Amino acid sequence: MEGVLPLRVVRDTGQGTLPPDEVTALVQEIDRGVPWQRAISTLTLPTLSRKRDWFLDPAKAAFYLSLEVPTHRLAMDVGAGSGVIACELGRRFERTIAVEQDRRWCRFMRHRFLQEGLPVEVIHVDALRLPPSVTNVDLAVVNGVLEWVATGKSADAQAGSPRQVQPKRNKASALRREAPRSGNPECPRGSAGDRPGSREAPKQ
Ligand SMILES: C[S@@+](CC[C@H](N)C(=O)[O-])C[C@H]1O[C@@H](n2cnc3c(N)ncnc32)[C@H](O)[C@@H]1O
Repeated sequence: MEGVLPLRVVRDTGQGTLPPDEVTALVQEIDRGVPWQRAISTLTLPTLSRKRDWFLDPAKAAFYLSLEVPTHRLAMDVGAGSGVIACELGRRFERTIAVEQDRRWCRFMRHRFLQEGLPVEVIHVDALRLPPSVTNVDLAVVNGVLEWVATGKSADAQAGSPRQVQPKRNKASALRREAPRSGNPECPRGSAGDRPGSREAPKQ
């Protein structure tokens, strides 16, 4: 078991579901021996108090678990955050890998999976630098991650932090969804998004 997480300033990547000081407080509480679920349900932190379900609701995994997979040997949750989805993958797959670049969330997830007795392995790494040993993944989940990450030389990517960029991108996607199908290059015919009643992935 690692030592207690020190209280210090950690850079906010702007992609987390909680501000860094709240994640630190949450992890410290669990390090002190409070069960993870009680810490999530009772800590009175400003953002956490408004979003407890985001970390607890197993329904967040329902869409992914409804997908057809070749086997149930290996699932991977990329940008797993609190592990709310990885947890449910861990109940269905022989092995699950939770990939997360924020070491505080990694620590939180290790507590969570250990306390739940789930076979989920946490890898603290940038998803773009996954070890080559990660192969033959039956299901790879990327929930609530890509829309935060604007890269490259696009105007969006240059515009600011993920917290500034994401609302603009969400608005643009909503407008594209409302546009007539024939004029929507983002949604090619025959793709899942083109089918009436197609299932939508959950928001983060
Ligand atoms: C908005 S949270 C979503 C968490 C979780 N997937 C969920 O739906 O509850 C995005 C997470 O992705 C992680 N993340 C972003 N880019 C990543 C990368 N390149 N490699 C690993 N994790 C990443 C962030 O640290 C953050 O925890």
